[in-house]
Amino acid sequence: MHPAPDLPLASRTLTTAAAAHTRAIGERCGRLLQAPLVLALIGDLGSGKTVFVQGLARGLDLPPEWSVTSPTFTLVNEYPARLRLYHIDLYRLEPTQLDLEALGLAEILEGGGVVAVEWAEKLPPAAAAERLEIRFDYGEDETTRTLRMDAYGQPALSLLKGLISEAGGK
Ligand SMILES: Nc1ncnc2c1ncn2[C@@H]1O[C@H](COP(=O)(O)OP(=O)(O)O)[C@@H](O)[C@H]1O
Ligand SMILES: [Mg+2]
Repeated sequence: MHPAPDLPLASRTLTTAAAAHTRAIGERCGRLLQAPLVLALIGDLGSGKTVFVQGLARGLDLPPEWSVTSPTFTLVNEYPARLRLYHIDLYRLEPTQLDLEALGLAEILEGGGVVAVEWAEKLPPAAAAERLEIRFDYGEDETTRTLRMDAYGQPALSLLKGLISEAGGK
């Protein structure tokens, strides 16, 4: 018997033409979210992961006096949004250093907030079986990005369906 493959329930690719557009997609995700979810963000430096999380925070009604920057050195930032928002950045960690328990990340990943993880490919596969995975890639010119979204698990599927229907079924 082969183990069940970890296949997404649905996938969608969006193209954005400017940082503001990527931020707006993040904001729509935030507005649609009614329950905790892990967002696994994957993509090279400068591909737009942090810009996306800035929009996500606004969509979760984070008060405007809070600014959202990458927790590259702090590893995790926590924000008092409509749902508690955790922003994790694994950039500086080698996968071998990644003791989720010791770093306090296991608790966060299981713990009932919206958890946006940059460099999520460093997470062990079991760390977030249910997640919306978003792969950010550079497009044809400096301000084009593609966001490929893969929904693993029902909560992520609901969010992706919401995004698609808001986009007019396209
Ligand atoms: N379509 C786009 N989407 C997101 N960011 C863009 C886009 N076009 C240009 N940019 C720029 O790319 C950079 C993305 O930075 P950032 O979100 O910090 O990347 P990452 O967190 O993936 O390293 C920003 O300077 C942003 O202004
Ligand atoms: Mg970043």
